Amino acid sequence: MGQIKAAITAVNGWVPDYVLTNQELEQMVDTSDEWIMTRTGVKERRILRESGKGTSDIGVETIKGLLEKSGTNPNDIELLICATVSPDFAFPATSAIIADKVGIKNSWSFDINAACSGFLYALNVATKFIEAGTYKKVIVIGAEKMSCMTDYTDRTTCVLFGDGGGAVLLEPTSEKLGVIDSILRTDGSGSFHLYQKGGGSVKPASYRTVIAKEHFIYQEGQQVFKFAVTNMADVSVEIMKRNNLAPKDLNWLVPHQANLRIIEATARRMGINKDQVMINIEKYGNTTSATIPLCLWEWENKLKKGDDLILSAFGGGFTWGAIYVKWAYDS
Ligand code: UT7
Repeated sequence: MGQIKAAITAVNGWVPDYVLTNQELEQMVDTSDEWIMTRTGVKERRILRESGKGTSDIGVETIKGLLEKSGTNPNDIELLICATVSPDFAFPATSAIIADKVGIKNSWSFDINAACSGFLYALNVATKFIEAGTYKKVIVIGAEKMSCMTDYTDRTTCVLFGDGGGAVLLEPTSEKLGVIDSILRTDGSGSFHLYQKGGGSVKPASYRTVIAKEHFIYQEGQQVFKFAVTNMADVSVEIMKRNNLAPKDLNWLVPHQANLRIIEATARRMGINKDQVMINIEKYGNTTSATIPLCLWEWENKLKKGDDLILSAFGGGFTWGAIYVKWAYDS
């Protein structure tokens, strides 16, 4: 019997209705559409505004659609992995809440926290369960309500982030399709350039942490930018080389959407053109672990069986990586 590969057999995305535009942000902080567009490429982002709703509600909408469009019975799902840094609660895991709400009852589930690389980490873990022959139906989701930890008085971060979710169904195939190769990295010495200072075990929530605004995203933008540009490009080039992928052979780069300049620099280093790159940062901003599956969802109609894709990300931790995927179906 040939080797089993993990193929993406369905993809779905979901974003909330509310559109937070650069014009609205201009009324909230000292910024301009011109600055945001030239420095980041974000035009608007989606925000989940209903009170009492959290990341699991984004996950539920995303996965309901995934199950529906793939004709999958929720009881056939054997594992659900949710990548998120904005869980409903510190515990239990958001994946457990999502599974319950969509009726996935015969499965186990867990969350992965790898910030913007979360979807790649989760996809890699899920792939191993399929390749080992352990499971036949696994869902990987990236879901975030980044607005819950965004300080809308801080112009350096509030223009960047948005809410949304994206998910894929993974199934085994005996063809040479699906996840072919992956490179994943962590460098914890970067932890304190991008993090949430309060609310964890080091600094539990108190009135002091609230007053000091320590429950919001803290980011040293320039530092993160420097590491992101180098590392995302390095792993993307490395994975091309070791799989003998020439720039012209690559159908799509699916990059994490943190900053248009980082995406363009990565594409340049890989020697590929802009028309080989999925870019939707202008519509959704940085949705952390959801950016890559949201791209796959939006580009699904253009994807053909056998297409070569490189998924690539960099984020908090620091975490980063690249995954080489051969698309498994014509939509
Ligand atoms: O997804 C996880 C990983 N995250 C990333 O990859 C993000 C990486 N970092 C970045 O994308 C960029 O560093 C930012 C978009 C966050 C910032 O862009 P930048 O070109 O690095 O700007 P900067 O931080 O160097 O700031 C330049 C100037 C500063 O003013 P002064 O000190 O030169 O007077 C900032 O205060 O721009 C100012 N500035 C703004 N001005 C208008 C910062 N934010 C804004 C704003 N509107 N929203």
